[in-house]
Amino acid sequence: MFDSLAQHEAALTQPAAEYSPTELRERASTFIEQCYDELGKREAVDDRLAAIEREISETGTYTQTTEELTHGARMAWRNSNRCIGRLFWQSLDVLDERDCESAESVHEACCRHIEYARNDGDIRPTITIFQPDTPTTERVRIWNDQLLRYAGYETDDGIVGDPGQCEFTAYCQSIGWEGDGGRFDPLPHVIQVGDSEPELFELPEELFVEVPISHPDYEWVADLELRWYDVPIISNMRLEIGGLNYTAAPFNGWYMGTEIGARNFADEDRYDMLSAVGERLGYDTSKNRSLWKDEALVVLNQAVLHSYNKAGVKIVDHHTATDQFAQFEQNEQRDGRSVTGDRSWLVPPMSSATTHVFDQSYDTTVRTPGFFYMQESLPDR
Ligand code: ARG
Repeated sequence: MFDSLAQHEAALTQPAAEYSPTELRERASTFIEQCYDELGKREAVDDRLAAIEREISETGTYTQTTEELTHGARMAWRNSNRCIGRLFWQSLDVLDERDCESAESVHEACCRHIEYARNDGDIRPTITIFQPDTPTTERVRIWNDQLLRYAGYETDDGIVGDPGQCEFTAYCQSIGWEGDGGRFDPLPHVIQVGDSEPELFELPEELFVEVPISHPDYEWVADLELRWYDVPIISNMRLEIGGLNYTAAPFNGWYMGTEIGARNFADEDRYDMLSAVGERLGYDTSKNRSLWKDEALVVLNQAVLHSYNKAGVKIVDHHTATDQFAQFEQNEQRDGRSVTGDRSWLVPPMSSATTHVFDQSYDTTVRTPGFFYMQESLPDR
């Protein structure tokens, strides 16, 4: 148990360790035993471990089978303390792209991921796994934090676009990208293999699918000209399975409405839309007591759910998502596993006390297989 949020954060940010052969053997064997046990093939453990031993002695690393990779990635999702969507961990689709060796082929595989996961709106939880960082294979790094994202530009009249992306956008510009300077400009992919220079790849336009935001009752919401992309694909976390570090392993689920309506559009350091909505609703936004912020949040979140539905893009509301999480907790108990979690992330950013998560505490132990943060700093310019 970690006794503070800072310690939990630290555990999630462990640097990608270069494990010694001894440590690697140990981590491999812990993983293989648990994985094969869950897959109902304990009898195969000894032979497999002997083969892994030999491979580590000869090469300093080992190669996971497609089955190990697939189940390992699903376990990593199951272990993601901050994720409310874990009920669906077993349905994760794993795309094995370990044979991509160039930045360009990684970008192309990312584009395939986007289309596969999108599935015409019926979003499939998907992870693409590139080669791990090992003594025999080069480290692959995707510098975007998500495969679909909007640029943020710092201008003399303030920030245009997504303020959360200003640093990354400035980096892209420093290596030759020219953005249009708009509020919702798709960012290019920045991919690096080994020690070579990071490379820029513009996304084909048709790959960037967006949902225009409107409200079922308030026509003026459309006039705010808000939009958001369909699939959140996290691309800057390290996936660790059995001692192997997959430094490029973009993964996605579908959105929960509040991520967009109560955070991306509402946070003061993101699109900061609450006052604009409050004013359109006729409030004096200098007075707290009317709860104009709360009403503006509800309106924005209704708009997000309505718009995604209308566009045929899968999305879940926070009440349904927390109910699904309760089901996940029951399933885990039934299967004899304990659930770990980070309550501060699991609690939705609206109506928190209406959800069961609010009244519960969670064991914050960080398990592997798992997803970890990596060093944030962009390459030097
Ligand atoms: N909160 C992030 C965003 O708004 C996405 C994080 C992952 N979300 C998910 N539903 N899988 O873009």
